[in-house]
Amino acid sequence: MSAIHNDERGTMNEERGGVASSFIVHRSSLDVQAVRANFPILKQQVRGKRLVYLDNAATTQKPQAVIDRIVRYYTQENSNVHRGVHYLSEVATAAYENARTTVKRFLNARDEKEIVFTRGTTEAINLVAQSYGRANVGEGDEVLITAIEHHSNIVPWQMLCREKGATLKVAPVNDAGEVIVEEFARLLNERTRIVAFGHASNALGTINPIERMIALAHDAGAVVVIDGAQGAPHATIDVQQLDCDFYAFSGHKVYGPTGIGVLYGKQSILEAMPPWQGGGDMILSVSFEKTTYNELPYKFEAGTPNIEGVVGLAAALDYVTSIGIDSITAHEQELLAYATRRLQEIDGLRIIGTAAQKASVISFTLAGVHPHDIGTILDQEGIAIRTGHHCAQPIMMRFNIPATGRASFGMYNTLEEADVLVDGLRKVIEVFR
Ligand SMILES: Cc1ncc(COP(=O)(O)O)c(C=O)c1O
Repeated sequence: MSAIHNDERGTMNEERGGVASSFIVHRSSLDVQAVRANFPILKQQVRGKRLVYLDNAATTQKPQAVIDRIVRYYTQENSNVHRGVHYLSEVATAAYENARTTVKRFLNARDEKEIVFTRGTTEAINLVAQSYGRANVGEGDEVLITAIEHHSNIVPWQMLCREKGATLKVAPVNDAGEVIVEEFARLLNERTRIVAFGHASNALGTINPIERMIALAHDAGAVVVIDGAQGAPHATIDVQQLDCDFYAFSGHKVYGPTGIGVLYGKQSILEAMPPWQGGGDMILSVSFEKTTYNELPYKFEAGTPNIEGVVGLAAALDYVTSIGIDSITAHEQELLAYATRRLQEIDGLRIIGTAAQKASVISFTLAGVHPHDIGTILDQEGIAIRTGHHCAQPIMMRFNIPATGRASFGMYNTLEEADVLVDGLRKVIEVFR
């Protein structure tokens, strides 16, 4: 794998502010063809056409390094972790715990104890809602989210509020799909216990000003949960600098396996939280009278974990780090700018979500064509986009639309693929003319 990096900062960087503001844009210097060569699935033809995979916000493809790591785990290391004295169990346990260190480094957490493995972002947020939330949110309290959240960052809080007699407040967005920070600030008060928002929106691409939002929430005395499902694949994350209390992300959106994710939590907060699920591994001792819970992070990892997923995730994070998040971000921003410009050339195409700061996600509608038909016709051209509400129905309602087509770009996409998308959309228009 070869990827030449250029650490010189591009002009956009200055506009993006300080170092803690992730998504800092450096000048693109990614050797995309070298990157593509690492992803075997991209070599295939789909419906007789070269695959153009533009559904990266849903899930990313996996590099050979991740596939090889999982194969090596099963061919040489497979065993259950933490409770064996035999050789394979020691090897598997070391691989599992080394992966935790890799994640700690990736997020710049202080300690491995702050890294809890989960099934994904959804489970991580549910863990916070069910453990921290049930212990700390009471009748009359408030939980604040934003109008642009994924269902995974809405429903767990709705369930919590319903159970506790608390109120779910929602900060609105403007017509560009940006959270109105003044309104967000106005909704914070002494009853706000938890504030939860996405790093970036999967539906519209909007990057939230999370440093500012975290500081505002902390000023109000609330804890902050960041849904990083669309942050981790595109941005340098420094949880210490961000000072968020929780940060959740999914392995499969950052070039790793499905079924594995991470909850970062500040150690002092995790220590004080009750366990969520009970079972093996999360205990120190059990009798019928009393159970003593294990220390962090095992207190939150009940049952045999997804060992294959954990080692695969570490391989994915090592891969991403070797390419360089800054190079990936720069390349994706170039794709975003180019594809946005090209799509705007199409009559009747409306981009939904025009925030000043966006991740490489473009949601759009095409006059007179249902998004589902757009997706189906593009599929005949070998182009994979997502159509629907993107698990973010409230933001679709905000824009008075049932669904959009969504093209989302990853590190291996090319400018030429954006052109193929535009040509495909012209074919869609031909069909419906
Ligand atoms: C912003 C956002 N949050 C949460 C999720 C849920 O992630 P997962 O299904 O991996 O748990 C997604 C997935 O699309 C997402 O994009």
